[in-house]
Amino acid sequence: MSEQNQTTTPARSRSEQAVGIIIREHQGLWRVIDLVEQLQQDMNVNSQRPDEVLFNTIFDYIQHFSNRVHSQPTEIVLYKKVREKSPETGPLLDKLERGYVIGHQKINELRELLSACVKGWPDGREAFNHALTRFTQALRKHIKKEEGVVIPRAKEVLTEEDWRQIAEARDQQNDPLFGDRVREEFRELRHQIVSYTPERFGGLGLSHPASKPETGTEMLSIEGVVSSYGQIEVLHDINLKINSGEIVSLVGANGAGKSTLLMAISGLQPLDKGQMSFEGENLNKMSVDKRVSRGIVQVPEGRQVFKDLSVRDNLRLGAYTRKQGPEVQRDLQKVYSRFPILEQKQDNLAGELSGGQQQMLAIGRALMARPRLLLLDEPSMGLAPLIVEEIFGIIRELTEEGITVFLVEQNASQALALADRGYVLETGRVVLEGTGRELLSNEKVREAYLGM
Ligand SMILES: Nc1ncnc2c1ncn2[C@@H]1O[C@H](COP(=O)(O)OP(=O)(O)O)[C@@H](O)[C@H]1O
Ligand SMILES: [Mg+2]
Repeated sequence: MSEQNQTTTPARSRSEQAVGIIIREHQGLWRVIDLVEQLQQDMNVNSQRPDEVLFNTIFDYIQHFSNRVHSQPTEIVLYKKVREKSPETGPLLDKLERGYVIGHQKINELRELLSACVKGWPDGREAFNHALTRFTQALRKHIKKEEGVVIPRAKEVLTEEDWRQIAEARDQQNDPLFGDRVREEFRELRHQIVSYTPERFGGLGLSHPASKPETGTEMLSIEGVVSSYGQIEVLHDINLKINSGEIVSLVGANGAGKSTLLMAISGLQPLDKGQMSFEGENLNKMSVDKRVSRGIVQVPEGRQVFKDLSVRDNLRLGAYTRKQGPEVQRDLQKVYSRFPILEQKQDNLAGELSGGQQQMLAIGRALMARPRLLLLDEPSMGLAPLIVEEIFGIIRELTEEGITVFLVEQNASQALALADRGYVLETGRVVLEGTGRELLSNEKVREAYLGM
C-alpha cells in the first residue's frame, strides 16, 4: 500500500488526496456537530433528558480527534509545512493548536455537566446547554478557519515534495490525521454514534445500557514493560490493562516494584522496553505534563505534600497544567466540600496536618488536575484503621463519579475488596490476576498477603 503511494501516484493527486482526507474528516465532524445541535434542541424544546451514553460517545469521538492531533510531540505534518512556508500563518496555527488542547479540557467539563444534568434532571440543564453551545460554536469556527485559511494557504505555498511528505504520513499508522489505525478508530466511534442515534434523527436507534458499561473501553494498556534503575532491572515484562470506570488494584510486598510501575505510567520512570498507551495514544514519548493534562494523575507514596506551603496553595498547585481562573476556583470549592477539614485548615501549613489529613490533601491536589485515571500509591500507608476506612470510602466515591482508579497497596485485603480487578506483583513480575473477589479467595494470595 505504501509503495503504491510513494512510487506511482502523481504528486498533484497526492495534494488532492491529502486535502480530500481532511475535508472528509471535517465532514464527519460537521455531521456530528449537527447531531449535537439536534439533540440539544430535543433537550430544550421537548424537555428530553439527554442520552448520556450517546453524548459521551460523541464526546469520545471529538476528544479522540483532538487527542490524536496532539498525540505526537510534533504537530501534524500539514501544520508544520504551512508554518515553514508561510510564517505569517504561525499565530493562527498556534491558536488552532491551542484549540485542540483547550477542546480536550472543555469536553471533560462537558462530560461532568452532562452527568450532573442527567442525574439531577431537569436541574443542570441550563449549565450543560450553555457549555454545549459555546463548545459547538468554537468547534465550527475552528473547522472554518482550517478549511477557509489553512488549506487554501497550503495549496498556495506547499510544493509537490511537501504534499508527497504529507501524503506519506498516511503510511505511518499513528499519524494523527492520516494514519490507517487512527482512521479505523474514528470509523468505529462514528459507527457507535450512528447506532445509538434515535431513528428520528436519522440513526439506527439501537438500544444500549442506560449508563456507560462498567467495564468500558480499554483506557490504559501496558505491554511487555521492562524498567531498571541503572543496571538493575526491577520490572520484568509487565502486561496489564485498565478499562475506563474500573478500580484496579495492584498488590505486592515491599520492594516488588509497585511504585516503579506507577512512576512509569506517570512518565517519571523510563522504560527499557515495552509499550504503554492511554486511550489508544502512545505514552512512551509523552511528557509528564502532557500526561497530566490528558488526565493521568498520580498521588505519590507518602503523600509528599509541600509541607511549607498552605493547604490552599498545595491545592492550587494541583491545577498547574490548567489555566488559572474561575474554573480552578470552582474546583477548589468542590475539593473543600468533599474534604471540609481542608477548607477549615486552608490557611494552615500542610506540614501541620495529621497523616490522614495530608492524604486527603494529596488526593485533593490530584483532583485539582481533573484526573481521569487516578494513580494512588499506598494511600493507606501509616494511617489509623478508622482513617483508612475513610480514604477507601473516598476512593469508591471517586469511581462512582467516573474517575478510573489504579490503586497500589500493600494492604491487600482492603484493596482487593474494593477492586473490580486486581494484579499481584512479585519481584517485578505479575504473578496473578483476576477479579478482586477471585484474588481474595485465592489460596496463594490468602497465604502470602492476607496472612490466612
Ligand atoms: N531510586 C532507586 N534506585 C535504585 N533502586 C531503586 C530505586 N527505587 C526503588 N528501587 C528498587 O527497586 C525495587 C522496586 O522498588 P519499588 O518500586 O519502590 O517497590 P514497591 O513500591 O513495590 O515497594 C526495589 O528493589 C527497590 O529497592
Ligand atoms: Mg512503593
